[in-house]
Amino acid sequence: MSFERKNIQAMAGYASGEQPDSADVIKLNTNENPYPPGPAVVAALSGIHVDNLRRYPPPTALALRESLARLHAVNPDNIIVTNGGDELLRLVLATFVAPDECIGIAEPSYSLYEVLAAAHGCNLQNFALQADWKMSADFAQQLNAAKIKLCFVVNPHAPSGVLTSAAEIEKLARDFKGVLVIDEAYVDFVDPSAGHDCIPIIRQLENVIILRTFSKGYSLAGLRMAYGIGAKSLINPMQYKTKDSYNTDFIAQTLAQAAIEDQTYAKFTWRQVRDQRHWLTNELARLNLFCPPSQSNFLLVEVPPTHSAAILYQALKSQGILVRYFNLPGLANRLRITVGTVAQNSKLIKVLMGILNLGSDT
Ligand SMILES: Cc1ncc(COP(=O)(O)O)c(C=O)c1O
Repeated sequence: MSFERKNIQAMAGYASGEQPDSADVIKLNTNENPYPPGPAVVAALSGIHVDNLRRYPPPTALALRESLARLHAVNPDNIIVTNGGDELLRLVLATFVAPDECIGIAEPSYSLYEVLAAAHGCNLQNFALQADWKMSADFAQQLNAAKIKLCFVVNPHAPSGVLTSAAEIEKLARDFKGVLVIDEAYVDFVDPSAGHDCIPIIRQLENVIILRTFSKGYSLAGLRMAYGIGAKSLINPMQYKTKDSYNTDFIAQTLAQAAIEDQTYAKFTWRQVRDQRHWLTNELARLNLFCPPSQSNFLLVEVPPTHSAAILYQALKSQGILVRYFNLPGLANRLRITVGTVAQNSKLIKVLMGILNLGSDT
């Protein structure tokens, strides 16, 4: 006998990327920043006194929200801080979607969306992306026709890294009648020369929530901190009704604030990642491994028909390099590779050359 709700019994859980114990593995599978947290975070950590843990933390992380508000030129009321972006995704479903309503997802994208929808017990409709990994021009009309209550759009797109412009996102938000969640988990890695900025949209429209995380751009995946930016009418019900009273802890709030206030260090890591993304894209192309133009910290590599992505993934793993393989429609001949440090990327290319030259995976 099972006490699980029927929808929980029927669903499969999220399959996380492998998290190996050994530090020797070159980990290019879960899109972490390859650079460590900056000196300001190290100093803040060593400055935390254990007595700070006796009391409950600030319930809405006000000091951190004030720093974030300054950074994005919005009001602290436009920001909710969450225990990772994953908590924000769960909160938007709990707050805005009834179990008999339907959410929309541009497919393929972050596989957690489907898991959260299944756990919430709402309906879900997938809308296929175009061959260039972008949404079709009539995406909003398709969503409205299907009476979609909330739509998740990841931009830059995961797993391709392709960026949709702020103007296109704004048009989608204007035309769509439901809540649009723009998942910007990877936006920090967009080339500044693109001038990409979706924050102004939340000042004009009341149906948009932007997700940002400390996990990627700020090298703090282990801390579990993220935030949402949106109109006060969207933020308030999550802030004061549906989130846990103390959803983020004192240490996490303190370190996240230190990271946000050291933009110089964060920007340094983003520049390194962009430079290496460029280098890696070119080197992979020399090996006949092509990928769509990525504005993220990963590349979606197409494995030519002479080889198998599944076997290439295994061959890399056996040589101590982890990348991500998704055995899913449209992705089964591809590998998603996180951009690593200079040394990690050079090793990857060297190992790939060995595997491909030997033809050992054909
Ligand atoms: C597209 C996307 N959105 C959101 C997240 C959530 O990140 P976190 O919960 O670490 O903040 C991830 C993590 O990999 C992601 O890939």
